[in-house]
Amino acid sequence: PLRKRCCLLVYKGTSSVCVATVGFLLFLGLSLFYLPDPSAPEPAVSEESSHVTLLLIWAHPFERYRKLPNCSALFQIHKCTLTDDRRAYPQADAVIIHHRDVAIGRAELPTEPRPGAQKWIWMNYESPTHTPALWLFEGVFNLTLSYRTDSDIFLPYGYLIPRVGTAKSLQNRYAHPLHKPSRSNVIRPRFVAWVISNWSESHARVAFYYKLRRYINVDVFGRAGLPLPEGRGSVVRLLGRYQFYLALENSQHTDYITEKLWNAVKAGAVPVVLGPPRKNYERFLPPEAFIHVDDFPTVRGLARYLRMLRRNPDRLRRHLEWREGYSLHQTAFWAEHYCTACRAVRRTRGKTDWFTW
Ligand SMILES: *[C@@H]1O[C@H](CO)[C@@H](O)[C@H](O)[C@H]1NC(C)=O
Ligand SMILES: *[C@@H]1O[C@H](CO)[C@@H](O)[C@H](O)[C@H]1NC(C)=O
Ligand SMILES: *[C@@H]1O[C@H](CO)[C@@H](O)[C@H](O)[C@H]1NC(C)=O
Repeated sequence: PLRKRCCLLVYKGTSSVCVATVGFLLFLGLSLFYLPDPSAPEPAVSEESSHVTLLLIWAHPFERYRKLPNCSALFQIHKCTLTDDRRAYPQADAVIIHHRDVAIGRAELPTEPRPGAQKWIWMNYESPTHTPALWLFEGVFNLTLSYRTDSDIFLPYGYLIPRVGTAKSLQNRYAHPLHKPSRSNVIRPRFVAWVISNWSESHARVAFYYKLRRYINVDVFGRAGLPLPEGRGSVVRLLGRYQFYLALENSQHTDYITEKLWNAVKAGAVPVVLGPPRKNYERFLPPEAFIHVDDFPTVRGLARYLRMLRRNPDRLRRHLEWREGYSLHQTAFWAEHYCTACRAVRRTRGKTDWFTW
């Protein structure tokens, strides 16, 4: 078997002697987008095996307890048992460890030596800017689970599923069909919204907002602005009244595209994005599905474009027509992460490390 050390420093995005597992691009119908593991064909052999994989959740992320999911019922991932009972450590096939909690000392790593074939999975959904003390864990983990396409177990915040020519299995319960607006519904009552919970003057997104508001009105929601409506799905409902949504990431890194973007997509507001470069977004969305702040040499140019679109429904529709062919899948934190990890462990059982794709 091929031995490949799990390399966390690659996560920093700097040059490194280790070679990360190359993200796999799935050609599905006309889609050139990155789709996570669920779309990969199931190898028949592993499913036949009667062994039940036991995955230990070492600590609930951010110390917030959540009931563990039934992977079979929710994701059709069978023969996976999840537990958060640490007494199961000696029997666990794998242990999933959330980076932030061990990095800031909220939880300790399990004690060594680890049981023979057990795999430790490093799970992280923050960007490198907000991922402290990475160096502590170099050479400790066997598999990485993150939103980065070069993780061993890749699960983004969300992804599009093409509706035509797609296997039934992909039309799962978390897939939300998207539609283009009817002719009379292209123009929405409100203009631009931004939801911001962590306001920091050091963030590029705040500097961008200061410039943008010189030219257009932005309705700001969250701690620093208007109160956010409460309750499940209420943010998406709010965005549903807006034409544009500022999907501005807290820091700019490869593949770091969060629920901010997908909430806008779900609500049918055209996302104005600040994050990794346009090319990176285009691995996840059609080029016309979003407006990138780098598309314009100046913020003033961008503001002018947004105002122009609002007066030209036909032009605006170009940013919305693509929706007709897709469903949106937003990943369920953390249920889906645990189940996806468990399946990955099943598939790599008996192997020292991940096989190349
Ligand atoms: C999980 O769901 C499956 C299918 O719905 C069911 O047969 C099984 O009993 C459930 N397992 C547990 C532990 O609840
Ligand atoms: C908010 O942003 C600051 C500055 O980047 C960062 O240090 C802090 O960890 C962030 N807080 C949260 C809750 O993300
Ligand atoms: C997991 O990684 C540790 C540390 O590098 C290593 O000692 C162990 O053999 C690996 N286990 C498996 C099953 O690959």
